[in-house]
Amino acid sequence: MLGNFTYCNPTKLYFGKGAIKYLNDELPKYGKKVVLIYGGGSIKKNGIYDEVIDILKSNGKDVAEISGVMPNPTVVKLYEGMDIARRHGADLLLAVGGGSVCDYAKALAVSVHCEGDPWEKYYIRFEEPVCPVVPVGCVLTMVGTGSEMNAGSVITNHAQKLKIGHVFADESIMPRFSVLDPVYTLTLPHYQMVAGIYDIFSHICEQYFSGEDDNTSDYISEGLFRSLLTSSRIANTDMQNYEARSNIMWTATWALNTLVSRGKTTDWMVHMLGQAVGAYTDATHGMTLAAVSMAYYRHILPYGLKKFVRFAQNVWGVSPEGKSDEQIACEGLAAMESWMKELGLVMNLTDLGVTADMVEGIADSTLVMQGGYKVLDRAEIVEIIKASL
Ligand code: NZQ
Ligand code: ZN
Repeated sequence: MLGNFTYCNPTKLYFGKGAIKYLNDELPKYGKKVVLIYGGGSIKKNGIYDEVIDILKSNGKDVAEISGVMPNPTVVKLYEGMDIARRHGADLLLAVGGGSVCDYAKALAVSVHCEGDPWEKYYIRFEEPVCPVVPVGCVLTMVGTGSEMNAGSVITNHAQKLKIGHVFADESIMPRFSVLDPVYTLTLPHYQMVAGIYDIFSHICEQYFSGEDDNTSDYISEGLFRSLLTSSRIANTDMQNYEARSNIMWTATWALNTLVSRGKTTDWMVHMLGQAVGAYTDATHGMTLAAVSMAYYRHILPYGLKKFVRFAQNVWGVSPEGKSDEQIACEGLAAMESWMKELGLVMNLTDLGVTADMVEGIADSTLVMQGGYKVLDRAEIVEIIKASL
């Protein structure tokens, strides 16, 4: 491991069946004014809303609500929430939902006391907050993003056709606590479950396919990949399997809670492509990644051949005997593609609503990252998007 780093993760996790009871330990640490944030209503159907409200009431909290946080939360919704949180004098933002709700809560946390436009400040200029940050707590109901234990927050601006994530450096933006009860995820539709599984897989890839040195993080990543493959195959046919779903939930957290990126560069180009697609289509995050991944990895394979060989052998069990490195690496990617198809992921952009006339615009909205095996130029980005149609 050749890179230097600091490491601190202050989020306290409560994991397992019935973990919601630990809200009773956390809530007394904050003032009376709580803003409860949730999505389009799944928590009302599956009873999580009632459970949380009961606990908030029994802890004497004065609760305001921000509901209707949409998948891929928008800057317009952020402005609406700033008004509510300001009027209420929020002491705590309690996010109950998936990555969208958690990301939104973090965006709000740095915006409530922000002077000026938070979109410009945090998502265009990537500045850190100088204002007080309102604490965030999270009750997770959808698995994939890792937002429950990181400082990332992705916001979409439809008017500007941009979907941008800011991973804040300031640890105070990470959730102070997160409740992870795998039972809460059992009501997810299959489409969302597998999109989340692929999001996890992609997060590991983004941090694995980079660097040349022998790095502990890569060995941890291989373990996470293998656990995810085992559990995803079980959950795909037996969605109510608690053991598999709990493993998937825990893997998601570790895939993007800053651990496996320590001491190395990271790629994130699949996410940049996926986010640009998201800005144009509002498609489900994990599916945007699935649709561009095979074209992207086949494109960069020659530049990172050694790692792709290792991926094929250590993750997919490809036997190297009598084969060239290229053959081994290609077999690994073929195994990955067939697993993706087995899960029923969306494998092309056309199925997400992308049309040929959008290609140039999507390329314009794609941020170019520097840390992977190949820094893409614009022509390569267009080529990958076209190959993904
Ligand atoms: O809105 P409701 O009605 O709650 O329905 C949601 C939503 O439609 C539903 N859902 C959630 N929990 C459920 C449930 N339905 C039934 N039962 C449950 N228990 O699932 C749908 C998707 O939810 P969403 O929160 O949008 O999904 P996800 O967790 O994948 O979050 C996606 C957002 O996170 C960002 C993405 O870009 C996207 O905006 N990301 C955040 C990251 C981070 N913070 O580090 C990294 C990721 O790469 C990602 O970019
Ligand atoms: Zn992701």
